[in-house]
Amino acid sequence: MGDIQVTSLPTPDEVVAAVVSDLVSVITERSATNADVHIALTGGTVGVAINAALLSNPVVQNCRTLHLWFSDERYVPRGHEDRNDLNLEPLLANFVGRVHHVAGPETSENVQASAASYAQELHLATTSRFCADNTLMDVSIIGLGPDGHIASIFPHSQTLYATDAVVAVTDSPKPPPVRVSWTYPTINASREAWIVACGEAKAQAVANILADDPITEQMIAQTPACGVHGKYETRLITDFAAN
Ligand code: 6PG
Repeated sequence: MGDIQVTSLPTPDEVVAAVVSDLVSVITERSATNADVHIALTGGTVGVAINAALLSNPVVQNCRTLHLWFSDERYVPRGHEDRNDLNLEPLLANFVGRVHHVAGPETSENVQASAASYAQELHLATTSRFCADNTLMDVSIIGLGPDGHIASIFPHSQTLYATDAVVAVTDSPKPPPVRVSWTYPTINASREAWIVACGEAKAQAVANILADDPITEQMIAQTPACGVHGKYETRLITDFAAN
């Protein structure tokens, strides 16, 4: 992916700190005109560390126009240990913005209904912005799996080709199997997409992302992260171990 901006830092902690610092800058700048700010968060070890550090930041806590979303979520009840939003729960009391939680089985008929209602919530919250400039998120933080998956879009899965904004996944190779996930049309409507990857286990996926070859459908099917591109910027923030 020739147009990807790479930031390489010595440790995962420095990756988390850099991502949070850059997100705070985006939130500060975008909210200065009292505009809505939309940020999509992710799961995984780096993702959840970013989420907790972000919501512990006073600027973020006090941003009334900030909307936080999840580009994927496990279809388990709020508070379950597998939830991507789990470590935000104790921080919500101090946050004046809005976290858009994906409905779990306790508040939705099934995973398909949860995906449909999340898509509707996303549409309602972003419709004026999408009409203005065809964008959804200001920034989407995208975790990278060792197999190159992003959100719950896995190699050689049908989700690669989904055109709905949000889909139900029932066969995730990464447990738990049942999830709600954004698709490429939604992720790539982000003004900026920031892929975060730490650890040697991600080295091959990072190498595939940074390959100079023109991106083909086959490359994307093999490494779904190759299909991620923000409308204005695509970043890879990684540690030395991963590249
Ligand atoms: C999920 C995540 C997933 C994650 C990657 C990276 O719900 O599992 O959204 O896409 O971001 O698998 O996770 P690790 O950083 O734990 O490898």
